[in-house]
Amino acid sequence: MTNSASKATPTSASALSVRASAAHRPVSPLLFGLFYEDINLSSDGGLNANLVNNHSFEGVYLDPKHKELRALAMRTPTTKHLDRARHWETSGPAAKLSVLGTDAVASHGHYGRLTGGSGATLTNHGYPGDAGPSVAVRAGVNLRFTALARGPQGGSRCHVVLLAGDGNLVAEADFTVPAGDQWTQVVAELSPTRTVRASLQLVLPDGGTLDLDEVRLIPEDHWGAGDPRWSQGLFRRDLVEALRDLAPRFMRFPGGCIVEGLTLENAYDWKASVGPLAERRPNYNLWGMHRPDGDYSQSLQIGFYEYFLLCEDLGMEPMPVVSAGLACQFRSREVTPVDGADFSKVVQDTLDLIDWATGDPATNAWAAKRAAGGHPEPFRLNLLGIGNENHGPVYLERFERIRAAVDAHHPGLTIIMSSGTAPAGKAFDQSLAHARTCGDAKTVVDEHFYKSPAWFIDQVNRYDDYPRGGAQVFMGEYAAHVPTLPIPRRLRLPANTIKSAIAEAAFLTGVERNADVVAMTSYAPLLNHLESELWQHNLIDFDGFTVTPTANAAVQKLFATTLGERIVDLDGELPAGVFASASRSDDRLCVHLVNTTTIPQDVTLTVDLPLHGAGSATVLAAPHGIQPSRRMGSRERAKLLEDHLALAVHDGAVSLTLRPQSVSALEFGLASVS
Ligand code: AHR
Repeated sequence: MTNSASKATPTSASALSVRASAAHRPVSPLLFGLFYEDINLSSDGGLNANLVNNHSFEGVYLDPKHKELRALAMRTPTTKHLDRARHWETSGPAAKLSVLGTDAVASHGHYGRLTGGSGATLTNHGYPGDAGPSVAVRAGVNLRFTALARGPQGGSRCHVVLLAGDGNLVAEADFTVPAGDQWTQVVAELSPTRTVRASLQLVLPDGGTLDLDEVRLIPEDHWGAGDPRWSQGLFRRDLVEALRDLAPRFMRFPGGCIVEGLTLENAYDWKASVGPLAERRPNYNLWGMHRPDGDYSQSLQIGFYEYFLLCEDLGMEPMPVVSAGLACQFRSREVTPVDGADFSKVVQDTLDLIDWATGDPATNAWAAKRAAGGHPEPFRLNLLGIGNENHGPVYLERFERIRAAVDAHHPGLTIIMSSGTAPAGKAFDQSLAHARTCGDAKTVVDEHFYKSPAWFIDQVNRYDDYPRGGAQVFMGEYAAHVPTLPIPRRLRLPANTIKSAIAEAAFLTGVERNADVVAMTSYAPLLNHLESELWQHNLIDFDGFTVTPTANAAVQKLFATTLGERIVDLDGELPAGVFASASRSDDRLCVHLVNTTTIPQDVTLTVDLPLHGAGSATVLAAPHGIQPSRRMGSRERAKLLEDHLALAVHDGAVSLTLRPQSVSALEFGLASVS
């Protein structure tokens, strides 16, 4: 079959032969997955069900004086900025907040001490937290307030209040703490009467001194409620359900640039992200470079333990990504020497991760930590990424050393190799060539591309000639939209447009036709808090109350949910700008047709196997007359309208008209097994 990407001109009806009887090449069972990185407030402020900002008085932020351009010039300044009281405000008579304690992991860490007279108040606005009350409170959904607390100078009463932005009370409850140095867990149930943005207030009606730590405010409808495995961090339910709707088969985590860090010290430390929440110490988030005052901390309430549980709950293969001992090569030159103790630690941390996830708690200390969290059984672990967007000999040498250690320790994992930031050029070629000489089918090369819609359409046939039988491809990050972070907001291109979604659909037909060599794909970035002011083009938008999958997400979901197990070849000519792919299982045939043109296109399909009954089509199409504009804000993203049609079959043939700028997923029952 020929897919032409040249300028669209209407043609007479095109005929496609669907060779369902000769489908031998397997579709990768992991073709569609998710890439979850803490960008756009997608963890704290997003998936993390705890609505309290800087909940444990450990806030670590990016130095507000840090400028990305300075880092690009390889003069990365000190980046860590400790601001342990950030997001907490005091009011009322003589009210004062002191942050006390130490950062030592063996200790209790830091905690907040509120002192003052009668009515002294401590306020937290939630996330993003820089524009007043932002705690999303929903009428009828109870919230559980918990904290570690103590009254070092006598017992204390505390009044817990949710106060709306208009000053009205939304919910209230009380707790008391006994006098003494012992920390106790306090609990207060709050029953909101309104759906509103609010602030959490802790008021001392009698004045005095109250020590607080691990402050949590969790909606009762969070994911995993009542399940003992979910003993630490918790997820927001509606966001998890939106992820589940995409039918993902794997999840890549924790990044992204977060894996590498702005400096080596900033690289994601998985060991700090498991175990009791009170022992997890935050790191600053490098994406704070695009937030006001560097205001982005990784509290690690969502860490590797929660990530593996989420994978288990949604039936996804985990794909943890570990540091290769290189800071982000785009922003830094920090490299861990391969012959030193620091690199031995990089390797050992990787081996310990495997033990933590899969080991026997009776014999392995890391596995015992997993069991202590509530998961004595091993987690699934078949995939492992080494490095993110790393490249060149400096990377490949470290990749090989880590890979050799992993293979010796835990043979059989599929290892993902980075190829830099772009799908072409010297760095990319080096990784691809290296992977192809490995002669090891378990190496998968991670390709990243944030390119224009025109590039995606031009590259529909990208994988047709990739060699089979060796290294496979992981499209680990992609979107038909160029990154715009350094560009002033008023000059940025509209994001999440119909054009980008349709271009991605066209590209995915090429992926599906080559789903034997393309093993996995994951869109990027995944989640976006609409007030985060960060990456412009994402898969799912949300705020405290809403979750809005974009047009691009609709395309992802359609492809992932209408996919067979073997690739079906198509013969025939298609009009310019129309693209197709097909797959089948024993009893079902799925055909994808993408019309990128702005005119209707007629297509007739003839299937070479008997079909069972009528067919059906799910069609995503551009609403007539809506064009994205530069002024279009992220709350007005373009939408693809979804329609469902019955398809009449006559003598194995089906005719239909593809709507302008549309994606059609056709499904047929196969009458016989071949
Ligand atoms: O998806 C956002 C970022 O884009 C990722 O962190 C990085 O890998 C890529 O450059």
